[in-house]
Amino acid sequence: MPKKIIIDTDPGVDDAMAILFAFNSPEVEVIGLTTIFGNVTTDLGTQNGLRIVELAQHPQIPVAHGSDRPLYIPLDGIADFVHGHDGLGNTNQPPPAGQPDSRSAAQFIVEMVMSNPGEITLVPIGPLTNLALALAIEPKIVQNVVDVVLMGGAATVNGNVNPAAEANIAHDPHAADLVFNAGWPVTMVGLDVTEQVIMEEAYLRGLKDNGGRSAAFIWDITRFYQNFHFQAIGLEGLHTHDPSAIAYVIDPSLFTTIQGGIRVITEGVATGLTLLDRRPEWPNTHAWSHSPKTNVCVGVDAPRLRQLYQERILRAT
Ligand code: RIB
Ligand code: CA
Repeated sequence: MPKKIIIDTDPGVDDAMAILFAFNSPEVEVIGLTTIFGNVTTDLGTQNGLRIVELAQHPQIPVAHGSDRPLYIPLDGIADFVHGHDGLGNTNQPPPAGQPDSRSAAQFIVEMVMSNPGEITLVPIGPLTNLALALAIEPKIVQNVVDVVLMGGAATVNGNVNPAAEANIAHDPHAADLVFNAGWPVTMVGLDVTEQVIMEEAYLRGLKDNGGRSAAFIWDITRFYQNFHFQAIGLEGLHTHDPSAIAYVIDPSLFTTIQGGIRVITEGVATGLTLLDRRPEWPNTHAWSHSPKTNVCVGVDAPRLRQLYQERILRAT
C-alpha cells in the first residue's frame, strides 16, 4: 500500500522538483498539496501548486491555500532572488485552469488526518505555519498522523539564511517550535543532508535529454536556481533540499539519523536555530527536558538518492 502524504509547500523550484518526484513514485500517494509563503507569497504558491498538478496531469489533486503570514512575526520577504519572481525560475508558465480547494490548508490537513486515522504522513517543505494552525484547530491530529517528515533546520551545520537559521524555520520559528514539540513523530531532513546531495548541471541535462515533459520542465525551472547557487557559493549545481524529504518517505534507508529533542530559538541573534539536545542524559531540567525526540537526518547516500530521483523523473510523462 502506498503511503498517503500531504505535501505542505511554498513552490518554489525545489518544491516543484519534490512534488514531481512524489507523483512518479509508487511508494507514495499524494492526497493533496497545501500552500504557504516562503519562496513566494502564498497566493503565488497556490497558483504554482495548481500549475504543477496540471503539468503532471493530476488536476484532481486538491491544492488548499494556506496562511498568508507567520504566526506572530511579520513576513520578512520572499526568496525571489533564489526562485525567480514567479517562483519557477522566471519561466512564465501559463495560468492554471483549476481553482484551489474551498478549505484552508490547516482545515484540509485536519479533515484529511481525522478522516484517515493512522494513514497520513505530513511532508512540509516550507515554513511550518499551516501545521501549527492545524494543531490549534484539532490537537488530536498528533495521535492520528503516521509521521511528519519535514525539510528544514540544520542540526550539525550552519543555516543558509545566516549562520544560525535555515530558511523554512527562519520564516516562522514559533510555528517550527510548536511542530517539533507537539508530540507526534517528526523526522527532520535538514541542511545536514540536503547540502550533501548535489545535482550538477550534467545530471540535470541528462534528465532533460532522456525524459519527457516533467524532466524538461525541471531543466527549465532550474536554470535561474542553478545560477543563484553559482553566484552565492560558486556551486555548479543545486543543493537538493525538498526532494530529499520525499526521498526519506520513499526510502528511509538512504539516510542515517540521530535522535534528540529540538527547541527552536525564537528571539535574538540566533532566531530560527534548530538547537538539538545531543546529550543522552542531564542531571537537571531545562527547556529541552520535555521535548520529544526528533529523528534527525545526519548522513545520506547521495549517489543512491540521485539515482532514485533520476529513475522516477525519467518515468514521468
Ligand atoms: O532552505 C531550503 C528550503 O527553503 C527549501 O524548502 C526551499 O524550497 C526553501 O523553501
Ligand atoms: Ca520549499
